[in-house]
Amino acid sequence: MSRTVYVNGQYVPEEDAKISVFDRGFLFADGVYEVTSVLGGKLIDFAAHATRLERSLGELQMESPVAKDELLEIHRELVRANDITDGLIYLQITRGAADRDFAFPENATPTIVLFTQSKPGLANSPAAQTGIKVISIEDQRWGRRDIKTVQLLYPSMGKMMAKAAGADDAWMVEDGHVTEGTSNNAYIVKGNTIITRHLGNEILHGITRAAVLAFAREAQMKVEERAFTIDEALQADEAFITSASSFVMPVVEIDGTGIGNGEPGSVAQRLREIYLDESLKKAV
Ligand code: PDD
Repeated sequence: MSRTVYVNGQYVPEEDAKISVFDRGFLFADGVYEVTSVLGGKLIDFAAHATRLERSLGELQMESPVAKDELLEIHRELVRANDITDGLIYLQITRGAADRDFAFPENATPTIVLFTQSKPGLANSPAAQTGIKVISIEDQRWGRRDIKTVQLLYPSMGKMMAKAAGADDAWMVEDGHVTEGTSNNAYIVKGNTIITRHLGNEILHGITRAAVLAFAREAQMKVEERAFTIDEALQADEAFITSASSFVMPVVEIDGTGIGNGEPGSVAQRLREIYLDESLKKAV
């Protein structure tokens, strides 16, 4: 069965979902996106994703073609039309189509596209039991990583470097310190302290990160928001990542060296449980 996709105000079968070759998302990566997970047919952390989307748009002087409550309705309609129990909803807004020119066009109408990806058992991924392996690579992205733009070529290359090295993902390093994973935020645990890079332009302000750190503090765990090095990570007791698609995922190996005892750590496992339980309660 063909997926139903949302394009500029219409729900259409995916084969009929089309945008212009002059779209600035295509020509300039002039667009922003969000990925929201769906568990049990409900949206996880929707409000926070919608708020970050507004911020990304604002930073690029773009307007949303759709109001926030309408956005929720579109997400829900796509979940319904595609019968999604567990999966992801991808949303992209670009500055729209205009004759090719580096300067922003004056009157382009933004393009909006949303589609679903069905992922049955998303919250029970086997990787959560075994943990993932990461390699470290240089962070060669642009300087405004706090804006969730569709410029994902370097993260894609990073993923390919990881694959070539027999790993699952890459942690990016700038000026000797870890920024984040290719599509997730990075953490280490030493004793009972969770360490993750402070917010700034160097990383995406993860929605899962914000929720997980709040739950960790509520559970009386110590949190340090500061940069750390790969050497420090190699000496840590545990490591993990967070994202809307992986929730909390243990990291068991960095650059071929096992972290802690080489098994998923108890802090990561506990945070994963708390995050899934609590966000399911608030899911819409
Ligand atoms: N990626 N850092 C980067 C570079 C990301 O691309 C993502 C999300 C995150 C985690 O953010 P959040 O917790 O809000 O998902 C951090 C999404 C899932 C993706 O590109 O598929």
